[in-house]
Amino acid sequence: TRVAVIGGGENPEHDVSLASAASVCSALRSHDRFEVVALTIQRDGRWTDARGARITLAEAVDELQRCGVVFPVVHGPRGEDGTLAALLDLAHVPYVGSGLRAGALAMDKVTTKLIAESVGVRTARAARGTFPAVVKPSAAGSSFGVARVDDESELTAALEVARGFDDRVLVEEYIVGREIDVAVVTRADGSRMVSAPLEIVVSGAVFDSETKYDGTADFRVPAALTPAQQSDLERQALAVYDALGCSGVARVDFFLTHNGFVLNEVNTVPGLTARSQVPRMFEATGIPYAELVADLVDAALG
Ligand code: DAL
Ligand code: MG
Repeated sequence: TRVAVIGGGENPEHDVSLASAASVCSALRSHDRFEVVALTIQRDGRWTDARGARITLAEAVDELQRCGVVFPVVHGPRGEDGTLAALLDLAHVPYVGSGLRAGALAMDKVTTKLIAESVGVRTARAARGTFPAVVKPSAAGSSFGVARVDDESELTAALEVARGFDDRVLVEEYIVGREIDVAVVTRADGSRMVSAPLEIVVSGAVFDSETKYDGTADFRVPAALTPAQQSDLERQALAVYDALGCSGVARVDFFLTHNGFVLNEVNTVPGLTARSQVPRMFEATGIPYAELVADLVDAALG
């Protein structure tokens, strides 16, 4: 089967997407049955083919249509937010992961919050003049534009930074708790599986865009949870995955507070570099990365 892997993208997560796509390509290449065609969306939005030559959007679609399936690995706006899914729907090419609707809903943190709350999953409350608060762009990834604000004097600058990423900005109460992520996947046989939970241990105030990729963050997999916390986590992750209508793999990020779990966000195109959470979580569940990636492709092929 020819599999087109799309990486890059025109947002600040470009390099992360390239790294994720490279990992997906090598995992797919470890299987003899896949032939990988790597396409890249450059920072300016133009596409390049596997040899790095510029191609038009029409040529890119043509190339995608010549593959049996597409594995989109573009994080963030104009990728993860449903735009690529929409293009692939219009081109009638099967693809891995969430469709337009789930991608768009999950990319927007304001909307995710409304939907999660409606299925009984708690999210952070709006900070009403109280500090510490967290300022974040509604639609962005890898924590770009996210800042912890300790008093009023820091607010204006933080809002300005966040507005550089999206015109909608959230100001939420700062959640004190452990950062626990879990992933949900729909397997090729139609069953759904929840990964082992992962805890992120950071020394700084926030797990920000630097600690995310500089290798200093410490992941504990599986996170130490009581059986009750574990089943609560699984139930809530599945509820959010279903309410948003996700497909493929999604990583659902929570804080564990003394009052239970609070949803942070949902990633429909989670980081898939060798160092990222999702591969680590499934490995702890007994599914090696190469097997996970092949299974996602098989699920897309139906
Ligand atoms: N948005 C980044 C890639 C993640 O969720 O892992
Ligand atoms: Mg994200």
